[in-house]
Amino acid sequence: MNTIIAANWKMNKTTAEAKAFAETFTGLLAKKGVPGGRSCMIFPSALSLDVLNSALAASPVVLGAQNFYPAESGAFTGELSLAQLSDVGAKWVLIGHSERRHILNEDFDCVARKTAFAFEKGLGIMLCVGETLAEREAGSLRTVLTGQIETALRGLSVGASDHARLAVAYEPVWAIGTGKVATEKEIAEAHGMVKEILASFSPSLDDLPVLYGGSVKPANATGILAIPNVNGLLIGGASLAADSFYQILQA
Ligand code: PGA
Repeated sequence: MNTIIAANWKMNKTTAEAKAFAETFTGLLAKKGVPGGRSCMIFPSALSLDVLNSALAASPVVLGAQNFYPAESGAFTGELSLAQLSDVGAKWVLIGHSERRHILNEDFDCVARKTAFAFEKGLGIMLCVGETLAEREAGSLRTVLTGQIETALRGLSVGASDHARLAVAYEPVWAIGTGKVATEKEIAEAHGMVKEILASFSPSLDDLPVLYGGSVKPANATGILAIPNVNGLLIGGASLAADSFYQILQA
């Protein structure tokens, strides 16, 4: 299983800014590439996929989309289909990010429909899960994570060959964009739970990579990657500058 270092750019960067990032980042990769045993992914704005797909074509960076609508095509004003996103280079999709759930009101049934659709279409899926501070304080971490993972994966028949295109990102909502990183103990506990929940869903699923996300920076990346059951990082703010994302990739 490769360790995945993934950038989630959220609603940032114009196409010109994305292109400038790619130029700096490929320059940095020319010094030391993606370290052995690691994969590098970027989830940019959908508008920058095309530009990045060309600019990063010679690099091992894998591109993904932050959102899509789970239908082939049709009357879904403002939405993007997987065919459109694949056409401009998206190989993976983020599903269930807490900003989509809390700001844009996506519930876990929507997450389940998206997961099933992307799975059927053969894309890589990064399923984001995580508890709010209130849920953590109420002692419901395991219940919340179990509900989120089981709802999202229900009905999928995952074979051994699908494992390379499935990953879970554990992102405690209270740590996203707040500068407040979960402690080593909290991360180890939650990642252990995610692995157990995956295994109870289907025994071999505990080998899926489980990434940590929430205020990851170059200064804390090495320490977080050393925690048991942490198989990668999903980075928001600190992935926007090429040098800081490169430092995390090399951490
Ligand atoms: P952050 O975002 O690194 O800015 O906290 C992480 C995420 O939302 O994926």
